Amino acid sequence: MKQLVKNIRCLAGVEYEPKLRLQGKEMAEFNTIDDAWLLVEDGRFAEFGSVADGMPALVDIDETIDAEGGMVLPSWCDSHTHIVFAGSREREFVDKINGLSYEEIARRGGGILNSADLLHNTSEDELYRQAMRRLDEVIRKGTGCIEIKSGYGLNMEDELKMLRVIRRMKETSDARIVSTFLGAHAVARGMTQTNYVRLIIDEMIPEVGRQRLADFVDVFCDRGFFTPEETARILDAAAAWGMRPKIHADELASSGGVEVGVKHGALSVDHLESMTVEEIEILRHSDTMPTVLPGTSFFLNMPYGKARRMIDAGLGVAVASDYNPGSTPSGDMKFVVSLACIKLRLQPSEALNAATINGAYAMGESAEYGSIAKGKVANFFITHQLPSVDFIPYAYTTPIVKKVVLRGKMQ
Ligand code: NIG
Ligand code: FE
Repeated sequence: MKQLVKNIRCLAGVEYEPKLRLQGKEMAEFNTIDDAWLLVEDGRFAEFGSVADGMPALVDIDETIDAEGGMVLPSWCDSHTHIVFAGSREREFVDKINGLSYEEIARRGGGILNSADLLHNTSEDELYRQAMRRLDEVIRKGTGCIEIKSGYGLNMEDELKMLRVIRRMKETSDARIVSTFLGAHAVARGMTQTNYVRLIIDEMIPEVGRQRLADFVDVFCDRGFFTPEETARILDAAAAWGMRPKIHADELASSGGVEVGVKHGALSVDHLESMTVEEIEILRHSDTMPTVLPGTSFFLNMPYGKARRMIDAGLGVAVASDYNPGSTPSGDMKFVVSLACIKLRLQPSEALNAATINGAYAMGESAEYGSIAKGKVANFFITHQLPSVDFIPYAYTTPIVKKVVLRGKMQ
């Protein structure tokens, strides 16, 4: 099956010699081709070029997609979400407006534990329906590759229920989905910290591993949640089942999460709102992708991660949405790209790379997703007519996505 996308005003996010991640100055290279065409073959990018250099022969094209003068971009790669959850938590939103902090709400038994109670009382089918609604919403906004975490179960049965929902989503969606076991998201009600960590290590991880329900493991390594020492033990246990870490670090305080993550070969360390300059040093020469979640800083009125400093220090940076009911009830990656420019001081090209190729790297998927390159999976979106690439983050609430194509299929 051959598809030709024609009338592309600007083909963006093109890679001629694909890299698995972009670091430092490389992050400013978001290649574009004006007045372009794009050929997709059997769900993968086959060829592309500028009309001026000649179009491919039209004889054996099965389908033509008219971009109508819009841009074509690789789908967003959202490497950190919690979109499997039940209901919503707007009560806490109002509590926060009235002066309570995220941590105070958590200490009163709200927050994550509130979502765990709701999830416990929601059937697996209903949970799947609610999560698919959120997934469809973000697909329409341009996301084509996404990580989804467990972590609102906090007991064996409910954690497995969440992971089965993610597996069903993987099987039924054209988006690429990777799954992360986040049993260590909060200590379950009625359990001691020690016993809960033991339950995760001795029972949950082996069962998740046996059933192959998670690609990665996560720990909320932060003040008031899990210590670096507990995190290390959990990561060691998960490593025995082939689950690589992607961890929550430095959201509420400089928690030691970056160090323990890098030591355990984490694919990413995420949040980093409270990271220190010393932690930037720890990340250098590692394979770990620092991932900043500016939507969380926005929603919780917290400091923004030091993405600019990290890039200036030669590191790669990814941005992700953190879509969840408590700290970021939004999976809008275009808004994340805007925040990356406005609040993190990234150039539009850097922000776009952070939300595509580096996001894909933070999921271990950048050989297949994250840019328009020969052989990669054809996940992309076509925009309305836009004056320039920089317009995307600049017009921070203007919808841009007109058509979405995943695995070569129009959505
Ligand atoms: O990434 N920080 C931990 N987990 C989520 C929030 C979860 C919640 O409040 O429901 C986060 O911000
Ligand atoms: Fe998170």
